Amino acid sequence: MSLVRVSTSKDRLRVGVLVSGGGSNLQAFLLRAAEVDAAFEVSCVVSNRPGVFALERAERAQVPALVVDHKTFETRAAFEEALVEQLQEQRVELVVLAGFMRVLSDHFLAAFPFLVVNVHPALCPSFPGMHAARQALEAGVRVTGCTVHLVDHGVDTGPILEQSVVLVDDDENEASLTQKIQAQEHKLFPKVVQNVALGRYDFDEKHRIRRRPSPV
Ligand code: GRF
Repeated sequence: MSLVRVSTSKDRLRVGVLVSGGGSNLQAFLLRAAEVDAAFEVSCVVSNRPGVFALERAERAQVPALVVDHKTFETRAAFEEALVEQLQEQRVELVVLAGFMRVLSDHFLAAFPFLVVNVHPALCPSFPGMHAARQALEAGVRVTGCTVHLVDHGVDTGPILEQSVVLVDDDENEASLTQKIQAQEHKLFPKVVQNVALGRYDFDEKHRIRRRPSPV
């Protein structure tokens, strides 16, 4: 079984992108979605923070840009229900977290089971949570990278779709390492979502992802 409805040329997979900031990953998605062979479209962008640059990027690309401000809700559950409502209204089939800085609980995940994809700036399961590049430098690793994974109830613990490696140089600092990792994210993340939309992944009984052979 594919993770999602397999896209067709007439009916591309409808992706909703959640953001909280600058949206450089969103930009990579907007560019990929504009290519002729794109198997997905960015159907809407939702930010939990008003006024962020990601919303401007969406507007420029003529994609509906919505704000669901978490500060205006009394509970996490109410915030997540409002998010789900917006995404369902836009008939979103797959949710992409592109620098979305809120942890999502079951109120959200139950509406999109195994249908939420995130990028984490480390090779999971190493360095989960905030400041992953700093954690990598503090640990003295020679390689780190980024991980595109499905979101589960933990922090950066869900089934791994793909990873990309970045070498840590001797004179590396947090800013330079973050920049190198982000450059990899911009390549890897849209590529993985394209492959999800093409039905190239499923998972085994332990929820480990398997790649399916491409049709000849
Ligand atoms: C990315 O580096 C991602 O790894 C992390 O948040 C950052 C978002 O950057 N989850 P942007 O908003 O896509 O520019």
